[in-house]
Amino acid sequence: MAAVCLQVCVSCEGLCSESAAGGEVPAGRRLYESLLTATAEIPDINVAPVDCFAVCDRPVTLAFRAAGGDPERWSYLIGDADPERDLADILAAARAVADSPHGVPAIEDRPPFFRKGVIARVPPLPRL
Ligand code: FES
Repeated sequence: MAAVCLQVCVSCEGLCSESAAGGEVPAGRRLYESLLTATAEIPDINVAPVDCFAVCDRPVTLAFRAAGGDPERWSYLIGDADPERDLADILAAARAVADSPHGVPAIEDRPPFFRKGVIARVPPLPRL
């Protein structure tokens, strides 16, 4: 399995909504911290914070980035993830992305939040 990095917007429903003013932990930050805990024993899934993906109307937004491979792999930007409801499905999607030779999981391997939440599928950089 290739390594996958989950980049999670830690500002979603925080800086861009009124929830932060009430002192609540933003949903994106909660998802990031839950994923850190859930992946602590999974060496091939890494989690990294992002301040904002500039799609603030689709909280929580996260990117699935599969590293390496030949050819290089596609990346997905997914919105509308729920930190509580979707945690297990996010991990399943990360495995599906990692298991795909191009970073493009089969339709049947995409959990509902992934199917509904696609904002963009980004190709790997061309060889320069
Ligand atoms: S606040 Fe999450 S994408 Fe902007």
